[in-house]
Amino acid sequence: MSKTNLIGGIDKFIAESIADVRAQAGGEPVLCALSGGVDSSVCAALAHKAVRDNLTCLFVDHGLMRKNEPEEVVSVFRDGLSIKLIHVDARERFLTRLEGVSDPERKRKIIGEEFIRVFEEEALKLGRIGFLVQGTIYPDIAESGADGKAVVKSHHNVGGLPEKIAFKGIIEPLKTLYKNEVRECGRALGLPDTMTNRQPFPGPGLGVRVLGAITADRLAVLKEADFIFREEIAAAGLDASLGQYFAAIPEQRSVGVRGGARAYGFTIILRAVHTSDFMTAGCARIPYEVLERVSERITAQCPEVSRVAYDITPKPPATIEWE
Ligand code: XMP
Repeated sequence: MSKTNLIGGIDKFIAESIADVRAQAGGEPVLCALSGGVDSSVCAALAHKAVRDNLTCLFVDHGLMRKNEPEEVVSVFRDGLSIKLIHVDARERFLTRLEGVSDPERKRKIIGEEFIRVFEEEALKLGRIGFLVQGTIYPDIAESGADGKAVVKSHHNVGGLPEKIAFKGIIEPLKTLYKNEVRECGRALGLPDTMTNRQPFPGPGLGVRVLGAITADRLAVLKEADFIFREEIAAAGLDASLGQYFAAIPEQRSVGVRGGARAYGFTIILRAVHTSDFMTAGCARIPYEVLERVSERITAQCPEVSRVAYDITPKPPATIEWE
């Protein structure tokens, strides 16, 4: 059974939330940080129903999203829903700041800080903003540091709230919902399945899947390999049954043979897990034929890759992400 905080059904929730957001905004301009993830996407769609042209979405493209996802954000929100969307191409900026940084926590911190910096710079250009609308959901509040457990990874999506922007307050229309309800809400608002069914994706994005110091070449290879993996998982009809699945790329190269010659290529690690709460996870028993097809396609379409490995470790002792 899925968890629920919804009383009275999704349509009632949506109607009440639209009225609430409209009342809270009180005719002032509203800004939304759109990341392309489920929560911020649903939040933006809902806020748009409430305040229409008073909503501006700011999408900071840090270059660490999965292949095709930035384009999808623009096409769904700007072209499809006619929402005012500012698409900031900050790819170079993030790569430059991350150059030579290999510690995962440091990478997370830089990505979070840089995100806020870019967000603030762009938001300041907009002039007066009344409210910030955020896709905070119930587990974000329930899990934020109340249990006193040791921090394994600092899971900040962004580095905090922008301090340089003077806004009257924050509107959080999804804060009583669990993830499954947010997805349901997104479907009811007419968002495409590709967006409402999106897997959890770490805030620092592929920044923690390009292991060690991030380089443009490994990032590009990872995007392709990850895309192929996702395509094959979907083609095999496995996507809905998996908690999370993705590719990662370590720094370590490995020896391969290509065209009869020695090739010292990249390794791609595939990871797919079953999980209900992401606190523990089991390795998914993906059929060998699917894994073989993924490996064949990755090595054929990404000549820089000479080896593909499948991670069979549960959590614990491993974590879901490699970093
Ligand atoms: P781990 O790797 O700790 O991941 O088993 C558990 C879940 O958290 C996601 N994850 C993150 N999410 N910022 C996030 O918003 C992060 O820095 C981060 N690191 C891991 C991971 O994808 C999985 O769903």
